[in-house]
Amino acid sequence: MEHFRNPRNQGSMDNPDAVGQEGNPTCGDVMKIYLRIKDNRIEDIKFETLGCAAAIAVSSAATELAKGKTLEEALAMNKDDIVNDLGGLPAPKIHCSMLGVDALHSAIKDYQNKKSL
Ligand code: FES
Repeated sequence: MEHFRNPRNQGSMDNPDAVGQEGNPTCGDVMKIYLRIKDNRIEDIKFETLGCAAAIAVSSAATELAKGKTLEEALAMNKDDIVNDLGGLPAPKIHCSMLGVDALHSAIKDYQNKKSL
């Protein structure tokens, strides 16, 4: 609830190094993650989420956990890390936690794709 009431890292970012977006086709919720990367580390991260309360809490927790991590560490994060950080989620809301991880991973892949061009 604390992450929902006072979400961390919410908003967009000017000139991000990478952007990732994921949506849940069932509920229609969408999450977008912006990354600023320096020396292979997530220096700054922001999110915009159009979604349920759990999706907003998940976005907030995911960005807090990912900030400062190397890209490899952030890619190794999974939904359980986020659910545990939030102190658990009701079973019907577990799918919301997938959005946070998927959007984060897709932003990192966007960065890796741009670098390999
Ligand atoms: Fe869709 Fe939570 S109900 S992400």
